[in-house]
Amino acid sequence: MLSVIYVSVADPLIRDEDIAAILLAARRNNRRDDLTGALIYNGHNFMQLLEGPAKKIEACLDAIRRDPRHSGMTEVRRRNVETRDFADWSMLYNPDFDGHAEDLARLAADGRIDAQDERMIGNFIALGRHRPSR
Ligand SMILES: Cc1cc2nc3c(=O)[nH]c(=O)nc-3n(C[C@H](O)[C@H](O)[C@H](O)COP(=O)(O)O)c2cc1C
Repeated sequence: MLSVIYVSVADPLIRDEDIAAILLAARRNNRRDDLTGALIYNGHNFMQLLEGPAKKIEACLDAIRRDPRHSGMTEVRRRNVETRDFADWSMLYNPDFDGHAEDLARLAADGRIDAQDERMIGNFIALGRHRPSR
């Protein structure tokens, strides 16, 4: 399985309804395609982890890359994994991500992971240990 993390810049005109529509499509398609993951939005940037069969991941990333609701998609981590970090989530969504809004903005601007980003990504992945309430 492949696990990919990217960051991007949200369209400045994006509204809550757009986020809801993204999540609806993501959850529906990801269930169908055996993909799981998580999405963070800090008001300006997205960070998303997607994990699952490599071919499905590539197809999904291609669709996401063409999506006009964001731009500047930059992959920051890609690895082959045996187990999923977000096995229970077709797409976990966390809009504020406890205090990491600035870290995320910085990572999206420079696209390279430093030690501070490693901590943020560690905390991001830890969200997957929460069980869904639904
Ligand atoms: C930040 C962001 C994250 C997205 N994540 C996913 C995703 O995880 N899975 C997915 O199928 N579509 C995702 N989308 C939506 C796709 O870009 C695309 O609109 C969708 O896959 C089209 O699905 P449809 O052909 O079923 O309408 C995302 C879009 C954005 C902007």
